[in-house]
Amino acid sequence: MSERTLAIIKPDAVNKHVIGDIVSRYEKAGLKPVAMRLMQMGKPVAEGFYAVHKARPFFDSLCTFMSSGPSVVLVLQGENAIKKNRELMGATDPAKAEKGTIRAAHGTNIEYNAVHGSDSPETAKFEITYFFPGMDIIG
Ligand code: CMP
Repeated sequence: MSERTLAIIKPDAVNKHVIGDIVSRYEKAGLKPVAMRLMQMGKPVAEGFYAVHKARPFFDSLCTFMSSGPSVVLVLQGENAIKKNRELMGATDPAKAEKGTIRAAHGTNIEYNAVHGSDSPETAKFEITYFFPGMDIIG
């Protein structure tokens, strides 16, 4: 089933000049970018995006990091896009991410982990609408 997912190339990865490598991985895996923004999110924008993690001890630090520099926010479309992107990313903690994944290649630690990807159709819908409010949702 063709579906859409929201991906973020986080400030740490943008700083490392690996936007091109990461977008190339998406494309080679059959995940087509159908929307893309280069933006520095303000801290309240990061807080709204990660609201589900509000009670976590890392919430404030995560939102500070996410608003510390530019990110690339994308909508990716393809067969099983949500699962496929999570496989491409690898585990949240780069130290535990499988070899060949984006986080194994470019992540630094569990917080500075290079990329984000939606984890379910419900979160994909919320996250796509959050950054691309005009887009029709499919899948
Ligand atoms: P992401 O997939 O964007 O979803 C939530 C983010 O919180 C996660 O990637 C990490 O950047 C961060 N995160 C998750 N767990 C921890 C943790 N234990 N300590 C610090 N940051 C975390």
